[in-house]
Amino acid sequence: MNYKKKINKRLAVVLAAILTMSLAACSSETPDESGADAESSQSNMAGSVQTDEPSSEESSASTASDGGQNILIAYFSLPLNDGVDTVARASRKESDDGSLGNVRFMANVIQENVGGDLFSIETVQEYPMDSMDDLLEFAYEEKAENARPELSTHIDNLDDYDVVFIGYPNWNADLPMPMYTFFEEYDFSGKTIIPFVAHGGSGASRTVDTIAELEPDATVIDDPVTVYWDELDDAESIVTEWVQNLEF
Ligand SMILES: Cc1cc2nc3c(=O)[nH]c(=O)nc-3n(C[C@H](O)[C@H](O)[C@H](O)COP(=O)(O)O)c2cc1C
Repeated sequence: MNYKKKINKRLAVVLAAILTMSLAACSSETPDESGADAESSQSNMAGSVQTDEPSSEESSASTASDGGQNILIAYFSLPLNDGVDTVARASRKESDDGSLGNVRFMANVIQENVGGDLFSIETVQEYPMDSMDDLLEFAYEEKAENARPELSTHIDNLDDYDVVFIGYPNWNADLPMPMYTFFEEYDFSGKTIIPFVAHGGSGASRTVDTIAELEPDATVIDDPVTVYWDELDDAESIVTEWVQNLEF
């Protein structure tokens, strides 16, 4: 179930090198005990403006109250389409809400624990979602070009939030390129950023440092929860433990 076996040889060589370098930078899942029980999700969504076709229901939802907390949970997550037979767990977590991207699943667990509003980071361009190989190739080219994919969803009320959880998959031992667009679009000065990451073996790589470089005037919590695709069955407890033991 290792995605490296599924990709073509060129990408395998590149990714193997990247993974080797980044393994040392893997982040931990904070293993402390927790007490509070999870509140049910309110499915709150941050204000977002669709400038293109919505690719998921959450991106077109609007602001809702979360009971007074000023927490935003923004995430980029790309679940492969149903029927993709290779490494389905690489990007799909079955849940009560259906088939979710792994990062999206993590975002839901965070919201169940701390409340807040969900925001889906989406792009104008469509990624190839019928094939892991095609997606890997596409993302590799995007990174090689240092692209800034245009976003189709936007936060129109960032001032309302002090704490922003930001989730993304490790792509090529880096942030997915749409995350660079995201961090360049917004100024998180004075806010607390709490990263969370899904991955296929590399942990968070250097991504937290990168976020700190992109947002030098934010407080970036360097304690990301990372969920490996082979531990998805434990993802809920891993994320719950982590978030309940966070101090922010
Ligand atoms: C284009 C692409 C590149 C990836 N590169 C890496 C990588 O360098 N290291 C790693 O550990 N996992 C890598 N992965 C695996 C993803 O991080 C993992 O599948 C993650 O669970 C996807 O989350 P999502 O379903 O929310 O999109 C890559 C996946 C894709 C699609």
